Amino acid sequence: EHSREITQTLSEFLLSTEQLLEVKKRMRIEIQNGLSKSTQDSATVKMLPTFVNSTPDGSEHGDFLALDLGGTNFRVLLVKIRSGKRRTVEMHNKIYAIPLEVMQGTGEELFDHIVQCISDFLDYMGMKNTRLPLGFTFSFPCRQTSLDAGILVTWTKGFKATDCEGENVVGLLRDAIKRREEFELDVVAIVNDTVGTLMTCAYEEPTCEIGLIAGTGSNACYMEEMRNIETIDGDEGRMCVNMEWGAFGDNGCLDDMRTEYDRAVDDLSLNSGKQRYEKMCSGMYLGEIVRNILIDMTKRGFLFRGQISETLKTRGIFETKFLSQIESDRLALLQVRSILQHLGLDSSCDDSIIVKRVCGAVSHRAAQLCGAGMAAVVDKIRENRGLDHLDITVGVDGTLYKLHPHFSGVMHQTVKELAPQCNVNFLLSEDGSGKGAALITAVGCRIRQELS
Ligand code: BG6
Ligand code: GLC
Repeated sequence: EHSREITQTLSEFLLSTEQLLEVKKRMRIEIQNGLSKSTQDSATVKMLPTFVNSTPDGSEHGDFLALDLGGTNFRVLLVKIRSGKRRTVEMHNKIYAIPLEVMQGTGEELFDHIVQCISDFLDYMGMKNTRLPLGFTFSFPCRQTSLDAGILVTWTKGFKATDCEGENVVGLLRDAIKRREEFELDVVAIVNDTVGTLMTCAYEEPTCEIGLIAGTGSNACYMEEMRNIETIDGDEGRMCVNMEWGAFGDNGCLDDMRTEYDRAVDDLSLNSGKQRYEKMCSGMYLGEIVRNILIDMTKRGFLFRGQISETLKTRGIFETKFLSQIESDRLALLQVRSILQHLGLDSSCDDSIIVKRVCGAVSHRAAQLCGAGMAAVVDKIRENRGLDHLDITVGVDGTLYKLHPHFSGVMHQTVKELAPQCNVNFLLSEDGSGKGAALITAVGCRIRQELS
């Protein structure tokens, strides 16, 4: 029986309450580093200002285009927002594929492809001749100087197009639209998916002041006091800050909690050494951690009769949806075996039990780590306001949060335990970030008119 050794290996993924409190504490330190002028240049958690000063108030109005790039799906959307007594938001959208060679080709190819998809969408809607304002949900770290300018700091997740890092992404989009000489658009705002999610949820629920994504990537944003954001002028009011918390740990501060499997996943990734917290918490990497553990256990003879199949050597086989299925409690072990079969892994009944345990250990830790990060955020907001107790809502989106049978529950529980002075309510974002981008665009258009 290898049971002891398996238990031993998986125990590396167990985090005690003390360790989780330590994660919370370290996140809080990195938040401070990102906000302070003297430390921001070297900060890992970048705390990027978004130039979004408020959540929606219901007066937003008009027809907008939105792009949503960086998650599982790339979409183009038409969003019609009506204000007044009967507020409504009507959306039409189409999903487009971004082939791997485009994600990792040249920047020009990527943006030409995006504009090609917009063109197709405008044809589909019969709207080629309308010059609509556009909000661009671009789910990567951008250093913004205004609502409609954002310099890509670095690609994350599965993207690696050349000549984009260090460039203003809105400029790249405008250039591609010009190159095509087919239609005009007015790019009004660039929006992170966390910010879009926050705005979508805040439109329905005014106590929502935090946005969270637990999907392909992991990140959060929240309304921070202007006086605390030393990187921009002004002390009045609040601004939404895109934390880019996925990079937490890039200075080594989480190394004592990373396992050899985390290091293997990092080494094989497109951006090794970067986004270390994200690589322990998000959908794009959890399956890879699982795969690395399974390879190790197979080598040690605990699994698959010691045979490492070609499939097991294939990167990316365990997508979030498969992990979610494997861990579903309604599924009999026989069905787990059939999922593994479908993935090309021939398993015995014992194998399937072990695989399920491995998945459980990895996703449980991910949910706890994410919860510890969130606990740091809610306590920061509580202290900002000098309160003993804070009631707050977090708007959430992402495939891991939505599809996984246990992730959300464990995450909620962890926040509750680590931030007992906060009552945190989680609200699922129903329509993704595109709607939020449109709401921000509406505000951007209004401000622009007021200024002219
Ligand atoms: C949605 C967005 O809000 O959630 C996506 O519309 C975003 O663009 C996504 O990135 C996160 O989910 P996932 O799991 O698709 O990365
Ligand atoms: C990555 C991106 C970040 C995004 C997150 C969720 O961490 O860097 O901008 O919000 O993924 O999609």
